[in-house]
Amino acid sequence: MKEDIERILSELAGLKCQTEKEVEEARVRLLGKKGEVTKLFEDFRTVSPELKREFGQKLNLLKKAVTEKLEELKGSVASSSSAGGKKEDATLPGDPMTLGSRHPVSIARQEIINIFRKFGYDVAEGPEIEDDYHVFEALNFPPNHPARDMQDTFFVSTGHPNPLLLRTHTSSVQVRTMEKQSLPIRVVCPGRVFRNEAISARAHCIFHQIEGLYVDENVTFADLKQAILLFAREMFGAETEIRMRPSYFPFTEPSAEVDVSCNICHGKGCNICKGTGWLEILGCGMVDPNVLEASGIDSHKYSGFAFGMGVERIAMLKWQVNDLRHYFENDMRFLKEFNTCVEV
Ligand code: PHE
Repeated sequence: MKEDIERILSELAGLKCQTEKEVEEARVRLLGKKGEVTKLFEDFRTVSPELKREFGQKLNLLKKAVTEKLEELKGSVASSSSAGGKKEDATLPGDPMTLGSRHPVSIARQEIINIFRKFGYDVAEGPEIEDDYHVFEALNFPPNHPARDMQDTFFVSTGHPNPLLLRTHTSSVQVRTMEKQSLPIRVVCPGRVFRNEAISARAHCIFHQIEGLYVDENVTFADLKQAILLFAREMFGAETEIRMRPSYFPFTEPSAEVDVSCNICHGKGCNICKGTGWLEILGCGMVDPNVLEASGIDSHKYSGFAFGMGVERIAMLKWQVNDLRHYFENDMRFLKEFNTCVEV
């Protein structure tokens, strides 16, 4: 019996288990009904009385050691399984993964660009921090002329003859295109623009524009009208009508503002079109000969038209959003409404 006790004790020291099942097997082998330790307790009955005290103590210590070892093994197996040893339950529902979506301004911008791409226009981009020359001077805004007040400007540096400023329109990109590109030119210029304006439902100090320029021989006002009509019908529906009202821009002559027939009331008059049946979408005109000449283009040989629109304004009209500020506030309830708008 003595040897058995010692053997079990030495085995116990080296006992290792990887899983709960192995711990349970060891428990049955040692302490189960027919276990080795249980059997020793049964054999104890046959031990002679003078040895009973000694072996009784030894057996009790053995049982205690076995029980403690099994507890220890159970604990270590459980902690290692919670640290990653446990099998994944593939039937559990997955964690939700929220996908982002395109911003409505970005969707509208892409839609406008895609329409003009179909008409053969390229896309040109330029710097947001510009100089006075490209934003004003080359576009026929004379120095100190009140026309400069049409677009309140954020200056980055002043006191210089050609100060740096945040561009107030992307017409500056058209100037840069005329300077470097060979003729004919057909481009749209999307981008962010900045104006020192009070923020309201209809105006913001930062917004997006897409301006267009077409320069070639024999370009006429009729070409301009047709290009705008085709754009309006692609953007707002095949039934859309346009009307042109005389206007003024320093860089175009003649100039016009374009309205589209209200796509909500179809001309009957509603609160979106303020009862007029018409919605203003853009400014346009024939490029002033001074502007062509400033960029080195022979205005006797070439003529051109230009137009410019606010992307937020087009997006407001298309999706009947009544406050421009929604586009800048990143309210998820608003943005989520555009999750289903697919790019064309
Ligand atoms: N640049 C003008 C604006 O920002 C828009 C425009 C572009 C008008 C081209 C006429 C021709 O308001």
